Amino acid sequence: MEKILIRGGKPLYGTIEIDGMKNAALPIVFATLLVPGKCHIDNLPAVRDIALSLQILETLGAKVEMTGPNSVEIDATNAIATLPPAELTRKMRASYYLLGAGLGRFGSAIVGYPGGCDFGKRPIDQHVKGFEALGATVDESSDGLLTAKVGEQGLRSGNIFFDVVSVGATLNVMMAAVTAPGQTIIENAAREPHIVDLANFLNTCGARISGAGTDTIKIKGVSELHGCTYAIIPDMIEAGTYMVAVAAASGQVKINNVIPKHLESVTAKLEEMGVSVEELDDAVVVTRTEPLQRCNIKTLPYPGFPTDMQPQFCALFCLAEGVCHLTEGVWDNRFRYVDELRRLGADIEVNGKTATVNGGAPLRGTSVRAVDLRGGAAMVIAGLAAEGETIVEDIHLIARGYDNLEGKLSAVGADICRVVYPDPIIKMN
Ligand code: UD1
Repeated sequence: MEKILIRGGKPLYGTIEIDGMKNAALPIVFATLLVPGKCHIDNLPAVRDIALSLQILETLGAKVEMTGPNSVEIDATNAIATLPPAELTRKMRASYYLLGAGLGRFGSAIVGYPGGCDFGKRPIDQHVKGFEALGATVDESSDGLLTAKVGEQGLRSGNIFFDVVSVGATLNVMMAAVTAPGQTIIENAAREPHIVDLANFLNTCGARISGAGTDTIKIKGVSELHGCTYAIIPDMIEAGTYMVAVAAASGQVKINNVIPKHLESVTAKLEEMGVSVEELDDAVVVTRTEPLQRCNIKTLPYPGFPTDMQPQFCALFCLAEGVCHLTEGVWDNRFRYVDELRRLGADIEVNGKTATVNGGAPLRGTSVRAVDLRGGAAMVIAGLAAEGETIVEDIHLIARGYDNLEGKLSAVGADICRVVYPDPIIKMN
């Protein structure tokens, strides 16, 4: 049983390197299934969800070779459309990219219903709507298997107007459409940097996608893709998490390998709270010397404030003097971690989609759980600022999206380590 142990109260000084973006790497790894050739991918984050996605591709017959700690070569030339093991696919949300990639390459795909963090309802109706517009059908069996297939005439191009802005549906339909003859138009598309990254990867493989990063994406179908070499963009959520960690613990840290433009909404909120953020070409320097000011946040699709930074800011709000309001604009239920912050002494009320944080009461270390990936990061941030010892349990959820979180924080002066506790001994009478 591994846990993270933090003794709070240490300011942070030094430099942190940011890895490639998990949520861009996942669709790109699955999109290699579209390519009958070798794809060499660099700046791949060494996180659990990526390891799982590579394992899943291997079960479909792709050759996967790690060529360095953050580089992989994937050759899906001999891959086939078959059911990957449910014990792998249900551990993460992104396994549903097999539907778009499988339809685009084989005209069919089968996958167990995907897992991932529990934020309330996570429907996939917009994915299905997009696939249907391309001439596919999607069925869900009573035992939770999703089967997507096209008829003998194959995929066709189509016009899709999404009813809600969905990152996953935009990525999935882009994958399915790259080889559909004619021009597909996706409107009300998500605009996140990872949408642009997948489009750039696919275009490097010979696809013809334009408009990614705007709400209208046009895809001209090509007959076949080819292999390429591609580097994943830096992870704005990993970077944002360390920016908030510095704001919580105080000190000055340079955060390297970032695209400052992707961090604008996080930077703006930190500045509003009295934290200085200096933007360099591919780094930001975060300095906190003064008490934190109160502010409010509402999460929205990009370029709005990212929902995946909501729990980390909630932890920070606990340290600000005054009342802060945090409104969730993307998910139905993303406040499950709040009970854990309360265990540390936080004064937070949740009413529907808004959390009201009465900041300023001192946090006191105790044992808390990571209830999901970013909720776990919020516990670590709170622990950095709390008095005494904080122990974070269920840290396998943090490992889904952060490589060596405790090592990176310890290198800038945090008193934090991973500890192995013996499993409890069960006495039998
Ligand atoms: C991705 C991210 C997740 C992030 C989210 C929003 C990955 C692996 N996960 O999740 O970390 O929090 O984007 O930035 O990249 N919706 C529907 N119907 C659908 C699809 C979505 O109603 O078919 C709704 C969802 O319930 C949610 C909203 O649309 O309320 C946004 O979801 P979406 O952008 O699809 O999130 P994911 O791609 O699953």
